[in-house]
Amino acid sequence: MKNRKKLYEGKAKILYHGPEPDTLIQYFKDDATAFNNKKRAQIPGKGVLNNFISELIMTRLKEVNIATHFLKRLNMREQLIKKLDIIPIEVVVRNIATGSLVKRLGIKEGKVLPRPIIEFYLKNDKLDDPIISEEHIIVFEWASPSELEEIISLSSRVNDFLTGYFFSLNIRLVDFKLEFGRYWKNDEVRIILADEISPDNCRLWDLKTNKKLDKDRFRQDLGEVDKAYKEVAYRLGVLSESEFKKVIKNDI
Ligand code: TMP
Repeated sequence: MKNRKKLYEGKAKILYHGPEPDTLIQYFKDDATAFNNKKRAQIPGKGVLNNFISELIMTRLKEVNIATHFLKRLNMREQLIKKLDIIPIEVVVRNIATGSLVKRLGIKEGKVLPRPIIEFYLKNDKLDDPIISEEHIIVFEWASPSELEEIISLSSRVNDFLTGYFFSLNIRLVDFKLEFGRYWKNDEVRIILADEISPDNCRLWDLKTNKKLDKDRFRQDLGEVDKAYKEVAYRLGVLSESEFKKVIKNDI
């Protein structure tokens, strides 16, 4: 996979052209950013952990008939994915009040929501990813009404499935962010889950202690960021401590 052409470099991932015209290679970096790139660091091994964690979750979602862009993991830091036309919206699903919801609306931190809330943010770094309504999405044609309906339905199914899945691992799925894209095949377009699902874009709290096992440890300077990501990987059963050590020693 040498001499690949870089298509796009984001804050935590790089996209390269794939072996087929409708595929891409998604490379997971160790870079962590928060507050729209104002806070930055390297977390050794994060890219490897997120690659494995996202592979597992995308695979489980496929097993319950949720279409994702994931095709296969290529190595420790890369996966082959379907090339999509990314919809410029971040979909946030919340089960427990925290983060920007608490700041914006003054809701009590940790309040269990009577039902999940789905929010939309415009993917636009220059504007700091502002929160938007369904009306904005339709009027400015970021997605059609039927696409939006599908996005909401898929987000809700992902939440139902993952809440139970993480619960079985003694983890509370507090909230998470999803991205979707359009995939064309024979003149037909489908909405497919894109990006990654990992502790970078989920809030995961230990069920008993409420210990944060996600990127909030970095955002809030809580320390032991890598340890928290490893804990999630071990509970999911994707990488053992010794396998991870080997990977880091011979890192690619
Ligand atoms: P928020 O409470 O800061 O709005 O975050 C909601 C969820 O979205 C949380 O699980 C973290 C995730 N998220 C991202 O994946 N990327 C982002 O840029 C932001 C702001 C949040």
